[in-house]
Amino acid sequence: MAAAAPPPPPTAVPVEALPETKLARHPLFCRIRLANPSDVPHIHKLIHQMAVFEHLTDQFTATESSLSSTLFRSQPFQSVTVFILEVSPKPFPESNFNPLYKPKVRILNLDHPIDDPEKETFKSEGDDVVVVGFALFVPNYSTFLGKPGFFVEDILVRECYRRKGFGKMLLTAVAKQAVEMGYGRVEWTVLDWNVNAIKFYEHMGAKVLQEWRICRLTGEALQAYGN
Ligand SMILES: CC(C)(COP(=O)(O)OP(=O)(O)OC[C@H]1O[C@@H](n2cnc3c(N)ncnc32)[C@H](O)[C@@H]1OP(=O)(O)O)[C@@H](O)C(=O)NCCC(=O)NCCS
Repeated sequence: MAAAAPPPPPTAVPVEALPETKLARHPLFCRIRLANPSDVPHIHKLIHQMAVFEHLTDQFTATESSLSSTLFRSQPFQSVTVFILEVSPKPFPESNFNPLYKPKVRILNLDHPIDDPEKETFKSEGDDVVVVGFALFVPNYSTFLGKPGFFVEDILVRECYRRKGFGKMLLTAVAKQAVEMGYGRVEWTVLDWNVNAIKFYEHMGAKVLQEWRICRLTGEALQAYGN
């Protein structure tokens, strides 16, 4: 009896033949990591974008030097902490990271590449990695809960990257860290006209507390206490 013919070798499925949903036409690697001192120029520019967005540039006096001398003065999460969100079309290179926070990496499959007019300005590590946004937060304390929490001072996703899930990644990372540390709250303030952010926060499950007002001592009113 003749031996059975070997099965034909598997043929590659042409990409066009894959169903639409399986096509990863523009995979984008996304990473949230702790900022370090070399990120200060980017952090400064992102805070400036925040001030422009909020029409508050008259209150923006931070410099790279004032940020350098006030950030990174304690262990992450014990004082001011900055999460940097960055993207790359290729997998991120292995790097040494602070053992207190393992970077969170996700792959986003986009229909179209993102046209980033500020790509050069926000290049991070090598040619491919670009900073997309940040969240800056500090520990606070709730006497009613008898527990610490985090206060998010700034959260920003650069304009061309909005509505793709990056803001969600950033706020999720802060909230997840709060849960892991046994903290009781994550809170922040939002300008009443910033309806897009309010919708985003509501989507994230936050309550917008209408009855609270912000009180602030700053400038001359604060300095007067130094006399
Ligand atoms: C607010 C901000 C951080 C949100 O980031 P983002 O990356 O655009 O948000 P995401 O794509 O993660 O949105 C997650 C979900 O929130 C909701 N959402 C976000 N922006 C929204 C908007 N403009 N309108 C309605 N819903 C919105 C949606 O449900 C969205 O999911 P979907 O896109 O699948 O519908 C970003 O818009 C930003 O940086 N804005 C300028 C700075 C700012 O306002 N910062 C906050 C100051 S308090």
